[in-house]
Amino acid sequence: TIEQRVDSVLKLMTLEEKIGQMAQFSCNWDVTGPIMADDFEPYLRKGLVGSIFNAYTVDGVRKLQEMALTESRLKIPVLFGYDVIHGFRTIFPMPLAEASSWDLELMRKSAAIAAEEASAEGIHWTFAPMVDIARDARWGRVMEGAGEDPYLGSLIAKARVEGFQGGKDWQSLQDLHTVLACCKHFAAYGAAESGRDYNNAELSLNTLMNYYMPPYKAAHEAGVATYMASFNEIGGVPSTASKFLFTDLLRNDWGFKGFVVTDYTGINELVPHGVAADEKEAGELAANAGIDMDMTGAVFSKYLKQSVEEGKVSEETINNAVRRILEMKFILGLFDDPYRYLDKEREKNTIMKPEFLQAARETAARSIVLLKNEKSFFPITKDKSLTVALIGPMVKDKVNQNGEWAGKGNREQSVSLYEGLTEKYAGTNVKFVYAQGCDLTTDNRDGFAEALATARRADVVLAVMGEDFNWSGEAASRSDIRLPGAQQELLKELKKTGKPVGVVLMNGRPLDLSWEDANLDAIMEAWYLGTMSGHGLADVIAGDYNPSGRLTMSFPRNVGQLPIYYNHKNTGRPLPADNPKMDYKSSYLDVANTPLYPFGYGLSYTTFQISNMQMDKSSMGKGDKVTVTAEVKNTGTVDGETVVQLYIRDLVASVTRPVKELKGFTKVALKSGESKKVSFTVTEAELSFYDIDLKYTAEPGNFELWVAADAADETNQASLVYTAK
Ligand code: IFM
Repeated sequence: TIEQRVDSVLKLMTLEEKIGQMAQFSCNWDVTGPIMADDFEPYLRKGLVGSIFNAYTVDGVRKLQEMALTESRLKIPVLFGYDVIHGFRTIFPMPLAEASSWDLELMRKSAAIAAEEASAEGIHWTFAPMVDIARDARWGRVMEGAGEDPYLGSLIAKARVEGFQGGKDWQSLQDLHTVLACCKHFAAYGAAESGRDYNNAELSLNTLMNYYMPPYKAAHEAGVATYMASFNEIGGVPSTASKFLFTDLLRNDWGFKGFVVTDYTGINELVPHGVAADEKEAGELAANAGIDMDMTGAVFSKYLKQSVEEGKVSEETINNAVRRILEMKFILGLFDDPYRYLDKEREKNTIMKPEFLQAARETAARSIVLLKNEKSFFPITKDKSLTVALIGPMVKDKVNQNGEWAGKGNREQSVSLYEGLTEKYAGTNVKFVYAQGCDLTTDNRDGFAEALATARRADVVLAVMGEDFNWSGEAASRSDIRLPGAQQELLKELKKTGKPVGVVLMNGRPLDLSWEDANLDAIMEAWYLGTMSGHGLADVIAGDYNPSGRLTMSFPRNVGQLPIYYNHKNTGRPLPADNPKMDYKSSYLDVANTPLYPFGYGLSYTTFQISNMQMDKSSMGKGDKVTVTAEVKNTGTVDGETVVQLYIRDLVASVTRPVKELKGFTKVALKSGESKKVSFTVTEAELSFYDIDLKYTAEPGNFELWVAADAADETNQASLVYTAK
């Protein structure tokens, strides 16, 4: 068995060699954090490296693997990792964008394609999916997750793990087209105070367990092979030193059997966090908390042997960590053939295959969210005869299209909107005139005059604007989430021309679009859509694909509302919806409590109506289930898809419960005029939560249910009694 084989290797290893397996180094071909002074090669040659990351290509990986295998004593193969987040060479929409598709199969497939490309270049392990719940758009890493909702976030976590790993069972990892997934960042990294990256996460255990934990748990249930610790602290304990997180919860409670890696220098950072006097003590805290592998920090390599000799860390702790790491190497078949992934022919035939590009294009189109569309600004159908002024720094942009964490995607290869539109409308009477007008980040207005003259020559203005891709992702927090630089000023000037003005936005986070919403005719949220961005967008702009994306993060009215999320608590002084100015209620003096665009929101080129909500019974006991149905009709003139959402509220419980929680959804395609019945099942699971003793339970009482178009839609409502008997 693998267990016996692991033990037979372990028996041969010196303490130093065992600790070597617990060390991961970056080869620094790509840089994803502060550069560490230590040169990894001497460690690698001596067999003192368990894993290398940031290496790629068959030749590159082979070179490093050979270095380890020809010179080390035991010739233990090295595990190669890489941040394959939303594609490797073929880049898919950034994860928050892809989440807006609410299409789990689409997300599973894009992860599988990413795994296929990465593994063809010798990569065994991705540091994805990132499943951190995010409620604060100031935080740059919101782009990398699935948004604010634990239920949807859990399903997406599962889909992505299945996509990367090929199945729940680790046997699927023997397939050369899969990679180990890594659920990150454990835990609550997304709760960084004031949206500032790496900041303290100040949250109660109730919030941690009910809102932040479900996606991490779902990843475990989907069979994720590894976890990554988060940079933040919770309740005074940095995650990297948290026995509660890694030993009590993850291993003992959930039964996780894979291994845990730090995020970069997470161990070294225990010193500035102030829980370790020096790196040696930091290493002891981490190892004893349940961390198995030290990413780039070299703390384990330098100090762990001494800590074991002094009895600060037991050899059993080391053996357990090494067993977990070796087990993965055996599962991947690396002990049988360390070069089994390294096939130049496969590499050549796999990278950016036409079917991958086609999947990326479809995913791009499905990730777009139409936020506003007055006077049918969109679609600009090919049968029209008009001149469109394309204005803005993103019209011809290629470098930003992949967004952050874009693997080895070649930015110059991604399709700009200009290229997409030119190809789409070739031979039609839709003509384009162009001016850049301004750049993404500076206040330079030199291009305004040309942009305005171009706008005046056209029938409609389509502005294409956004954020520089480096303005989201890691260490990219913002305190002002409006369009940067002079872009909004340019929009104001364009509006004064009197032409209809729509905007396509390319950005990595929810923005403050209050001015744009109040003043422009149309807003299309395109996020960063990846390699096929321009084609996916052109498909939607032309109406060849009717947009069906729905937001998975609330868009605030201004930055002061952050953090904002639909599943908030009611408070003891909730603001009545019919009296928004009432005094001594939980509210702002200068802005509404509600978001500009709620969770679950998105428009289509058609309209939908949800009606006739019914339940087969209005009361249920333990083990029962209730079927909730409703009718959804396409009431417009074109075919389209919508996402019908089920929300539940637990009215009275032993701890306060959110005003609403998503507990089901279904994406329905409807021809113009067509109706369909949608159906949801409510069981005890949909009513359960972590109570005051952190016991997962459903309490008897009354519940309210909505079948809705988004989190703010309360048109269809019903009540349910749960007897718990
Ligand atoms: O995987 C990432 C992590 O999400 C942020 N810090 C660096 C790691 C490795 O690149």
